[in-house]
Amino acid sequence: MKQKLEEILKNGLCEIEKVSDLKSLDEVRVTYLGKAGVLTQILRGMRDVPAEERREIGSLANSVREQIEKKLSEKWANLENEKLLADMEKEKVDITEPSKGVKRGALHPLTRFNNKFMEMCVEMGFTVIQTPEIETDYNNFEALNVPKNHPARDMQDSLYITENILLRTHTSPAQVRAMHMFKPPFKIVCPGRVYRNDDDSSHSPIFNQFEALVIDENVSLKDFMTMVKEMAVRLYGKDVKMRVRPAYFPFTEPSIEIDATCQMCGGKGCSLCKGTGFSEFFGGGIVNPRILEMAGIDSNKYSGFAFGPGIDRSVMVTNKIPNIKYLFRNDLRFLKQMR
Ligand code: DAH
Repeated sequence: MKQKLEEILKNGLCEIEKVSDLKSLDEVRVTYLGKAGVLTQILRGMRDVPAEERREIGSLANSVREQIEKKLSEKWANLENEKLLADMEKEKVDITEPSKGVKRGALHPLTRFNNKFMEMCVEMGFTVIQTPEIETDYNNFEALNVPKNHPARDMQDSLYITENILLRTHTSPAQVRAMHMFKPPFKIVCPGRVYRNDDDSSHSPIFNQFEALVIDENVSLKDFMTMVKEMAVRLYGKDVKMRVRPAYFPFTEPSIEIDATCQMCGGKGCSLCKGTGFSEFFGGGIVNPRILEMAGIDSNKYSGFAFGPGIDRSVMVTNKIPNIKYLFRNDLRFLKQMR
């Protein structure tokens, strides 16, 4: 028995010494001191030891247990310390190392165009306003000289919420709101999302427009054309060419549609501009006096011009984006290419 205990001590200490990680050390602990461990087994056999030897063997067994426990805890502390040092070495940060470069975000192409257009308008003296995307039928149509059952309503497939409330189909209701907000003379521009029941590769149910309205005394088509020319030069450069076509909008009279040098081909002619070298810049005209009167503005004293460019088409052309939906999907793979 004595010999067995001494052997256990020798082997135990030796095994503890050899171990090099915490998990194996714990296994050694279980082998010797665990419930079914070697030493525990020996202590269980004590009842077979003759009475006169029991004391001696008992105290030897205790001493063996103590020595093994002590060795175990020393080794445990050592291994833990080594592990800590190794971890610290592994996680060391070299604060002098040059950075790997930060991935920078970028503005969405629509936001970039929007900012550019807004800056230009502010420089030209416009007040920027924002009006609701959920509008009354009155502001969206009636006050713009488009009564119920007017055929012009067919040009804008509308998304109604109730009989008299809809998602605005254009930013033009901002004109109506501005005429109630400001006393002439004033110049406002309103950027914003608009909604129509339209859906294919070049039409999205959501798209973006600006509405610009200038009201003053003696405003003429010539003033309008001067401003449009200035805007085209600022946006597309001084070589930009323009042409004007007659058009029809219920809220302007006369109404015109203005084309500018096609930004895809630079005016040479391409599939987008159908070989003409021009693409649509925007529609507008002289504010129909009926609109002024409906808003309580004296149309004998004041006149004005208004125009409403859509911006998605321009952004698609300048960034060579084939499908308008890409602008609204928030797909990072697309957005990364737009940086
Ligand atoms: N609201 C028109 C549309 O969405 C665009 C427009 C045309 C706006 C003429 C105007 C304007 O202010 O005078 O098609």
